[in-house]
Amino acid sequence: MFTNCKKVLIPLSKYRRYSDTKSVLQIIEKGQIGQKVFVKGWIKSIRKQKTGTFLDFNDGSTMQNLQLVILHSLDTKISVGSSVSATGVLQKSPKGQNEITADKVKLVGECDLAKGYPFAPRKSYEPKYIREYLHLRPRTRKFASLLRIRHAATLAIHQYLDKNGYFNIHTPIITSNDCEGAGEIFKVMPDNEQLKKSMVKENQPLDSAYFDGKAYLTVSGQLHLEAAAHSLNKVYCFGPTFRAENSRSRLHLSEFYMLELEQAFMEKLDDLLDIVEDLVKNVTTVLLQNNQGDIEMCRGKKLDDSWVNKEFVRIQHSEALDILTNKLNKVVKPNVGISKEHELALTEYFENVPVFVTNWPLEEKPFYMKGISNNKVAAFDLLAPNIGEIAGGSLRENDYDQLKSKISSSNPHLEWYLDLRKFGSVPTGGFGLGFERYIQFILGIDSIKDCIPFPRWPHNCSL
Ligand code: 4AD
Ligand code: MG
Repeated sequence: MFTNCKKVLIPLSKYRRYSDTKSVLQIIEKGQIGQKVFVKGWIKSIRKQKTGTFLDFNDGSTMQNLQLVILHSLDTKISVGSSVSATGVLQKSPKGQNEITADKVKLVGECDLAKGYPFAPRKSYEPKYIREYLHLRPRTRKFASLLRIRHAATLAIHQYLDKNGYFNIHTPIITSNDCEGAGEIFKVMPDNEQLKKSMVKENQPLDSAYFDGKAYLTVSGQLHLEAAAHSLNKVYCFGPTFRAENSRSRLHLSEFYMLELEQAFMEKLDDLLDIVEDLVKNVTTVLLQNNQGDIEMCRGKKLDDSWVNKEFVRIQHSEALDILTNKLNKVVKPNVGISKEHELALTEYFENVPVFVTNWPLEEKPFYMKGISNNKVAAFDLLAPNIGEIAGGSLRENDYDQLKSKISSSNPHLEWYLDLRKFGSVPTGGFGLGFERYIQFILGIDSIKDCIPFPRWPHNCSL
């Protein structure tokens, strides 16, 4: 029921008493026509017509803009990008959408393009250009959608795991181990020579002064998670993870988020694969149901989601090599193994359904993975179309002597980890899912740098 805009002119003071600030989402979904509302947000576009001025207004609560119709003159300082507060009455537009006939629009903060605001109205920009303005990037429509999807995916992951009996463990960010043993670690120490000198003990290097040993930013919470799994059984962590890889590829970050899960009494790799598959499908289904608008905004092209309803492919490493060499004519160099190009070829071969590659050669995987026959370990990588590896995991070596022999060479100071196999030991298994790689996969985003609010990569930590 569209009512004539002109008749609604109620002084601000009168209805501020009745209504608090409403979000655009609340107004679009639950707003009652004729209701007096107060909104705060940013102007996305301005159209001046004979019948009035029309503002596209957004407050971040949803990707949808709310139209503000202004029938009086507008403060000339209000432009695209300005922050404003507005009061008015909710109406139906001729097209049947909720809109506000605003009687008052108050400027909160100017946005003067001439002073160097890098995004002009109605222009689209390449992701690389937008990335130069990380502090202003959340204001672009697509990136705001990305941020809402990250939130929704995080929530869906926590809810899925909670429903399935897993406990969230806050594993440390500062750690003394290099879980993956790849040496891709950032060192942690105080940036204060005075302090270091005052704390150093006899014959101790300065970089060990603060913690009485070297400390690093975590590359994985797995080992701590295993400690918790030996009491709480089903556990997970979901936090920032750091890798000092000298890679500026479209798939690598120096800081990313990883969901890691660990479960006690796990004896079969297939059981672990079932958990990963169910989690990925479940979270994706929730997102497709609840966040369709934001997802469409992020995806430049139509993506095929049919994999959600198909069984993931499960092949052993030896079968993967066979397909690559005999069916796809690829050369797999023994010292390199399965490369990114090979990963993508495999998912393409299986018609863009995610592929688990299991039973990896021992020498290609970290020390903690459980040995099986033929110098293989009970490990998997999950490969997604266009991305390649999005998750990796294994059963854990729970034989004390086997583990001890592998620890001594690759990772000192892990007596505590061996203790887990000494007291009330159980077989465990777990995995890590790269959160940004997952987001990149489901949204079809080319660079992982556009999947995290403030990406860090070599030579880039600008704010
Ligand atoms: O395969 P990764 O190294 O496995 C682990 O760290 C195990 N400790 C996990 C576990 O079993 N609890 O890393 C897991 C995932 C990868 O599959 C990938 O998706 C992501 O983390 N990842 C990265 N994502 C972005 N940038 C990087 N530099 C990444 N390195 C790994
Ligand atoms: Mg891996």
